[in-house]
Parts: sequence; C-alpha cells; structure tokens
Amino acid sequence: MAKLKVGILISGRGSNMQALIEACRKPKFPAEIALVLSNEPAAAGLARTKEAGIATAVLDHRPFKKDRPAFEQALTAVLEKAGVEFVCLAGFMRLLTETFVTHWRDRLINIHPSLLPAFRGLDTHKRALEAGVRLHGCTVHFVRAAMDDGPIIVQAAVPVLAGDDEAKLAARVLAAEHRCYPLALKLAAEKRLRVENERCLIDGAPAQEAALINPPPLMG
Ligand code: GAR
Repeated sequence: MAKLKVGILISGRGSNMQALIEACRKPKFPAEIALVLSNEPAAAGLARTKEAGIATAVLDHRPFKKDRPAFEQALTAVLEKAGVEFVCLAGFMRLLTETFVTHWRDRLINIHPSLLPAFRGLDTHKRALEAGVRLHGCTVHFVRAAMDDGPIIVQAAVPVLAGDDEAKLAARVLAAEHRCYPLALKLAAEKRLRVENERCLIDGAPAQEAALINPPPLMG
C-alpha cells in the first residue's frame, strides 16, 4: 500500500516533529513526510529537518498582516504542491479558521499538552499544577475550528508528582507526546480511524482496562 504523504506544521522547537520523522524512517511505517512547514523563519525545528534531508518551507504569517484567509490559502497551496494528503500540527501556534479546517477535515490532527477537554489553550502545565490534578497528560485529536477541540484519537495520562514544577511536569508530558503522536499517525495512515457523531472510533484497538491511579493504592 502507498504510504500516506504527511505535512507537518511547526512554529518552534519541533520535538514532536522529530518524533514523527523518526517513526516515518522505519521501513514498515505507513506514512512518509512530504514537507515540514514553519510559519516562523527562525524555528529551531527547521534546522533539524534540514539535517534529516526532509523538504522544508517557510510561510511567514506576518506579511499577510491580519488576512488569515489569504495566509491559509497560501498554506494549503504549498502543502498540496508538495503532495501532502494529511497534516499534523506539531506546536503550530496559529489558530486556523473554519475554511482551512473544513478543507482538511479529518485529514488534520493536532497534539495538545493536556488531557482534553481540560486545559485548552496555553500554559497547560502551570494550570494543571494550580488546579492540583493528580493526573495530567496529552491528547492527539482531529482539528475543528474551535481551539483545541475535535474528536480525540489518543491520550496519555502521566502522574503529577510531589515536587513537580512546570518544567518537570512538561518534560514528563512531552515524553508521552513523543509516543502518542506517532501512534495516532500510524492509526490514521492505516485507515483505522473513523469519525462518527464527532467521536473517533478505532478499528482493532486492543483493550486497556487497567486504571492509572495516582497516588498508587496503599499496600496492606
Ligand atoms: C508541545 O508540547 C505541543 O503539545 C504544544 O506545543 C509544544 C510544541 O513542542 N502544542 C500546543 O500547545 C498546541 N495547542 P515541540 O515543538 O517540541 O513539538
């Protein structure tokens, strides 16, 4: 079967992009990266892609001023010219409008550093610490026009530990992100995801019945 041609959109560091690139390097992985595109010319992630020999593009949003539709039209044009069939947002920090989201509907996924629908938006780790949750995590989801909204594909929960600060918690969540994103892309590329009534169904997902309890139940 032909590999799914993927475009990755980034704005910064690109560690999730790197996790996707590494997954796609495996010969049996059902997707390949056709293009990495950044809206930030100085994004650190761009250097990583160049090293990996992957095609990159920069589409700076600033010259478009506030004309989001024109920016997004250009975005779609660049992606489609590169043969992109499926788009992964990986720390892409621009909100996308209904038109873009509709064009790429169910072919556009995002990773967010919280257990959605909790903590949409920015500063998720700080807010999780302030809220005193015992489990935090990350979510890969199909993108809809509302921010950090859409059918959920994969989630990982990580414990919040005594002594955590934002950086420690962020690092624990990020390690989980790097496992979840390739998994979600694999499921999508294998055509095992179906959206029904705005919920994502997964063909052949193994049962996972164990609860993650934090703190762990006391012995004795
Ligand atoms: C990741 O933690 C990702 O979940 C988050 O930005 C970071 C990008 O890191 N995305 C969002 O907050 C989107 N709402 P990376 O550039 O190293 O992948």
